Amino acid sequence: MQIQAKQSPVNTLAIDALLVGVFAEAPLDGAIAALDESLGGAIASLSRDLPFKAQVGESETLFRPTGIKAKRLIVVGLGKQQELTSEALRKAFGEAFQGLIGTTVAKTAILLDGVDSLGWEKAAAATVEAAKLATYRYKRYQTKGQDEHRAPDSLTLLVPKSGDLAAVKAGAEQASLVSDAANWVRDLVNTPGGDLTATDLAGEARAMAETRGITCKVLGKKELEKQGFGALLGVNQGSTEPPAFIILEYQGGKKKDKPVVLVGKGVTFDTGGLCIKPSKGMEEMKTDMGGAGAVLGTLRAASDLKLPLNLVGLIPATDNMPSGSSLKPGDIVKTYNGMTMEIVDTDAEGRVILSDALGYASKNYDAQAIIDLATLTGSIIVTLGMHVTGMFGKDKDQALLDRVYQAGQETGEKVWQMPTWDVYEDMVKSEIADVKNSDPRRGDAIAAAMLLGKFVGDFPWVHLDIAGPSWAESPKAYYDAGATGHGVRLLTEVLKNWNA
Ligand code: BES
Ligand code: MN
Ligand code: ZN
Repeated sequence: MQIQAKQSPVNTLAIDALLVGVFAEAPLDGAIAALDESLGGAIASLSRDLPFKAQVGESETLFRPTGIKAKRLIVVGLGKQQELTSEALRKAFGEAFQGLIGTTVAKTAILLDGVDSLGWEKAAAATVEAAKLATYRYKRYQTKGQDEHRAPDSLTLLVPKSGDLAAVKAGAEQASLVSDAANWVRDLVNTPGGDLTATDLAGEARAMAETRGITCKVLGKKELEKQGFGALLGVNQGSTEPPAFIILEYQGGKKKDKPVVLVGKGVTFDTGGLCIKPSKGMEEMKTDMGGAGAVLGTLRAASDLKLPLNLVGLIPATDNMPSGSSLKPGDIVKTYNGMTMEIVDTDAEGRVILSDALGYASKNYDAQAIIDLATLTGSIIVTLGMHVTGMFGKDKDQALLDRVYQAGQETGEKVWQMPTWDVYEDMVKSEIADVKNSDPRRGDAIAAAMLLGKFVGDFPWVHLDIAGPSWAESPKAYYDAGATGHGVRLLTEVLKNWNA
């Protein structure tokens, strides 16, 4: 979708749909009041003649409105003006744009006004995110019916004379790049496991990096054996597909600046291994590389935004398959940093491969912070539901954890902090190895975090269990069902404010 911003008259614009946001319990104001005058009061009459209350999620369409050139006018409720947030804008315009899918509407414009409380840049960013995220559809494998999924192809943000065009342009451009990165991640996560192996994922990473001047190195099986990635190799040993360890480096800061290291779980398909999962719902385990996707998308966005800091992305990638050569419950692997781990449950494979990756991060980089993302546990879904990420860390890193929380509030990619008190220590103690990968499943999301915490040394660290929100079971205001790209907007927001 093409995005542009300009300051030009609304009435003469030859477009398919003009969208205007109106506030609840308030008279029309500014550019929207002026527009309504040309329309003979059509907008104002909506709330008189219809049960239109201008709540978020409500909209009314006027076809062939008289007085303006646009073929349809869509009046979008924004809720109360005092309560306006970026998330309200995303939801309101997201719903409206989803309503345009499969219609003949190609050229759209939003008349942006009344958003001073948010600031022009943020308001522009939120509307562009709404349009781009809401109109994403994954239809690669459907050979028929493409018209039903056709989305508008252009969006113009119309800025009134009183508005700040430069700020709108900046917000729109940044949001456009970040949304494109998130939508790319959704493609990766939606792709079936059979079409996205560890090797394929490495290829995607390489292609993304190449065009952006990000360096990309991929360690294959031989190299992993040489360097002692016993955990990643262990999870991979039942598979016919080789593993990959993907290393990305983006240098936006000075050469000597310490990097922020992002680590993402890249299980391209999780059958559970010998502790095999029930067949019902197993198809969803193609999404088990959502953490890896978020890392790739964040690096892409950071590079496109030219963020002035150094970033490293680390992705341990493999599938988790049952076979004659698979890890058996009770087996012990030797992880990258030398610690041994008892594999009690082969389905708790994410924490196993992440132990290698986190060990690699702390040994090879002098990180400012390590942030890992993983579709790690069903337990976090039981705890927080499908919409919210579980966040874990150590007491000493509370300031960093608070920043991630704030970014969640800002982007709508919400996170909630979970405890890592030492009362949970016992859950990772093994009788015969240094640690074990699973316990009787009480508080398993915490057990997993406790285990990961053993591999990050003293580096500031945040663990994000994104098992719930990386996948939408049903359509949301600005998301279709399926992969959400969760983590990209969250982390990009954290990194944008890194030096603030
Ligand atoms: N990939 C799963 C976690 C998951 C579950 C992600 C549902 C998304 C949706 C993970 O590898 C897993 O299988 N975890 C097990 C751990 C258990 C065996 C200790 C789980 O949560 O059941
Ligand atoms: Mn598993
Ligand atoms: Zn898994």
